[in-house]
Amino acid sequence: MSSITTQQTSTSPTPQIVGPARSFQGSVTVPGDKSISHRYAMLAGLAEGTTRLNNFSTGADPHSTLGCMEALGASVVKAGTSIEVTGTAGALQQPTGNLDCGNSGSTMRMLAGIIAPHPYTFTLIGDHSLTMRPMERIRKPLAAMGARIDLIDGHAPMTIHGGPLKAIDFETPIPSAQVKTAVLFAGLQAEGTTSLSEAVRTRDHSEHALRAFGATLTRKGERLSIAGGQRLTGIDATVPGDISSAAFFLSAALLFPDSNLVLDSIGMNPTRAALLDVIATLGGKIKVLMVEEHNGEMIGTIQVNRSPEGLKGAQIAGALSAQLIDELPVLAAIAPYTRDGVTIRDAKELRIKESDRIALVAKNLKAMGAELTEFEDGLAIPGNQQLHGAEIDSGSDHRIAMAFAIAALRATSENVIHGADAAAISFPEFFQFLNELAQR
Ligand code: S3P
Repeated sequence: MSSITTQQTSTSPTPQIVGPARSFQGSVTVPGDKSISHRYAMLAGLAEGTTRLNNFSTGADPHSTLGCMEALGASVVKAGTSIEVTGTAGALQQPTGNLDCGNSGSTMRMLAGIIAPHPYTFTLIGDHSLTMRPMERIRKPLAAMGARIDLIDGHAPMTIHGGPLKAIDFETPIPSAQVKTAVLFAGLQAEGTTSLSEAVRTRDHSEHALRAFGATLTRKGERLSIAGGQRLTGIDATVPGDISSAAFFLSAALLFPDSNLVLDSIGMNPTRAALLDVIATLGGKIKVLMVEEHNGEMIGTIQVNRSPEGLKGAQIAGALSAQLIDELPVLAAIAPYTRDGVTIRDAKELRIKESDRIALVAKNLKAMGAELTEFEDGLAIPGNQQLHGAEIDSGSDHRIAMAFAIAALRATSENVIHGADAAAISFPEFFQFLNELAQR
C-alpha cells in the first residue's frame, strides 16, 4: 500500500501524508525548468514567427506567463508539454484586462521588462503571496529607463504606463536574476545600449535565451551589454529538466546508504549547478553519464549515490547562498540528518520568497523535534538529530511543502503536510514521483 495518501480536512483540501522510507532508488525525468520556460515563453511572444518548445514546465507559474503572453497578443497552442507560441513580431497588443501573474514573481518581474517599452497601460496582478513580494527592485531601473510604474507601497498590483525607453547603465544592488532579466528585456527594446553589472553572478538563462532567439549580447568582464532595437525570431527548443525540482530527490538520495538515483535530461547550467557541489560536499557521489548543449543550456544525465563515509555537513554563505537560493529549504530540511549540520547565512532573500522560508523552515523543523538557531539571514542546524513526524505548515509555498516531504523520509513517523497542493506551482508530479522513488 502507498505510504503517501491524501486526506480531507476542513483547513486544507489535500494534506499529503509522507512516511519514513528505507531507501531511495530509481530513475526519473523531472519536468522542464521553470526559469527557462518563463524566458522562452516571454521571448517567443515577442519574437517573429512560431516557437516550438518541448518539455515545457508543467508547473503553474510558467503557465501564468503563457496566459499573459496570450493576453498580449501571442497565440499559444498546448499539447501536453509541447507548446507552440506564435509571436507578435515586437508589436504586443493592449490587453483587455489585467495580466494575472498568479503566484509567480518571475512572471511579474520579468514580464515588466518585456511590456514597459510598449505604449499601453498594463496592470499586473497576482495572488496574496505575490502581492506581499517587493516590486520596487524592478520599478527603479525601469523608471530610470523612462517607464512610469505605480505600486502600492512597493507591491503589486503594478500598473505600468509604457512607452519608448532609453538605455541605462545599471549596477544590480541585490543578486536577482529576475531584476537582471527585466533590465535586459527592456534594454532589448530601448533606444541605445543598456549595460549592467552584477556583484554576484546570477543564473544566466536570459542571456542564453536572448542569444538563441537571435539577439546579440556582449560581456566585458562583469559588464553585460545589450543594444536596443534588436528583433527576435522564433526557435525550436527543448527545455532541460529543472535542477531545482531535482534538488528534492538529490537531497533524498543522501539520506540512505544504498540510495541510487538517476536523473535524466537535467539542466546543468553552471550558474545553477552549485547544488551539485553542495550535494558532493555533503556526501553524495555524483557520476555524470552524459552532457550535451541545447541553445546554450547544458543538459545531462547524472547518477547519484551516497558515499560510504556517510553525510558530513556544509557551510553555505556569500555568493553560494544567492546561487542556491531555491534549494536552501530542502538542504535545511535534511540538515538534522547530517553528521556536522548545515549553516546557511547571507540568505535574507529567503524571507521574501513565496513565503518567509527561513521562518517556515525553522517552524516546521522545530515541529519535527529539531534544535536550530534562526538568524535574520539564515539558520544554523546541528547534525546528528533524530526527527519525528509532525503537522507541517507549507504556508502555501511549493518548496516548503516538498522540502518537508523529503524530511519525512528519515523521520520516525509520518509528516502531515498541509497546503501540499502548492507543489503544483513548480512540480505537479512531485508526490507521485516521490512515491515511486521512496522504497518502503
Ligand atoms: C529566478 C530567480 C530567483 C529564484 C526564482 C527564479 C529566475 O529569484 O528564486 O525562483 O528564474 O530568474 P530572484 O531573482 O528574486 O533571486
